Amino acid sequence: MADKRINILLVEDNSGDRRLISEMLAEAGNVTFDVKYADRLQAAMEYLSQNRVEVILLDLGLPDSQGLETLKKTYAQVSETPIVVLTGLNDEMIGTQAVNEGAQDYLIKGQVDTNLLRRTIRYAIERKQAEEKERRLQLQLNLSNRLASLGLMVEGIAHEINNPLTSVIGFAQMVMSEDIPENTREDVKTIGDNAQRVADIMKNLLTFAQQQKLERTYINVNDIIEATLKLRAYPLEDSNITVTTQLDPALPSIMADATLLQQAFLNLVINAETAMKLAHGKGSLLIKTALISDTIQISFTDDGPGIAEANLVHLFDPFFSTRGFGQGTGLGLSVCYGIITEHNGQIYAKSQLDRGSVFTVELPVVAEEKNLVVA
Ligand SMILES: Nc1ncnc2c1ncn2[C@@H]1O[C@H](COP(=O)(O)OP(=O)(O)OP(=O)(O)O)[C@@H](O)[C@H]1O
Ligand SMILES: [Mg+2]
Repeated sequence: MADKRINILLVEDNSGDRRLISEMLAEAGNVTFDVKYADRLQAAMEYLSQNRVEVILLDLGLPDSQGLETLKKTYAQVSETPIVVLTGLNDEMIGTQAVNEGAQDYLIKGQVDTNLLRRTIRYAIERKQAEEKERRLQLQLNLSNRLASLGLMVEGIAHEINNPLTSVIGFAQMVMSEDIPENTREDVKTIGDNAQRVADIMKNLLTFAQQQKLERTYINVNDIIEATLKLRAYPLEDSNITVTTQLDPALPSIMADATLLQQAFLNLVINAETAMKLAHGKGSLLIKTALISDTIQISFTDDGPGIAEANLVHLFDPFFSTRGFGQGTGLGLSVCYGIITEHNGQIYAKSQLDRGSVFTVELPVVAEEKNLVVA
């Protein structure tokens, strides 16, 4: 079996304890531990802001932080990394409290041997992975339930508003076709134009609520990506965005609505473009397609400003926008959500602040489509 490597950050100011733990981890076995050290919390925080480790061994009594505070601060920065707390002989209580505050486990210094240490590390990693998987599933489920009920409400409102709105637009057009004074004509035109803006918003809301009828034909996702980029080529270049594509030539064609998919991809490209341009005046966008078992996966990776954790859950909500008034309606991603969900697919975002964002679309390939490989 291939040798497994595990990256560990050992946060410990006592050099004797540090040596003891390092020696236990250095002993031969089927796992190689790559141990980095920090003797202060500040140093640990700096290291963790730049590097990922699989587990953190954390002494709670450090020169710059004491007790559970040490754990709370570490956990706040890297809540997805398992933490095993190291406590003194008389501190078993604090170990239990640490587990309640988010640590995976605790070890009592002086009572640790090689086997216990290695086993604790392995279990901490496995348990944390299982917890994270469960947490993500739960988040996804909550999100889709919330968006489904928002969709129902939006659908109701849109239907109620559409009838009177059609009549406003129709009557404005009728009055305009009559012989009326020029300044009245301008006023009526303003009424008509604004009513049309509302109608466009309603159309987007109905797309979010999946009330848009799909016109499916056999299409190849790569072609749609190419067409989208062609359509957006000029503004992308104007914003100093370098676009790279890695399109899997073996994608099967699928039955989908080409116009709507293009609209969804276009919204994702424009969002990445806007975010990168606003943050850095330039950027790179990577678009990849791949067939992963029965799913076509399309990812849009940018190196823009990223998205704050608190905003990630609201991205697909209608009218959620971080852009100023008049700059964004906040319907782009809601429309994407409606289009992809209507195709029985999924769309989700991952992001790291200051590093960039990845929006992933997954579209199912149904049985009869699998044999249709387009060269
Ligand atoms: N690639 C990205 N990088 C950073 N933030 C993003 C990215 N894509 C979307 N966002 C965030 O998500 C918000 C919602 O996006 P959405 O497309 O729904 O609305 P919008 O772009 O603000 O307005 P509209 O699309 O209606 O013009 C954006 O305001 C922005 O804060
Ligand atoms: Mg947008």
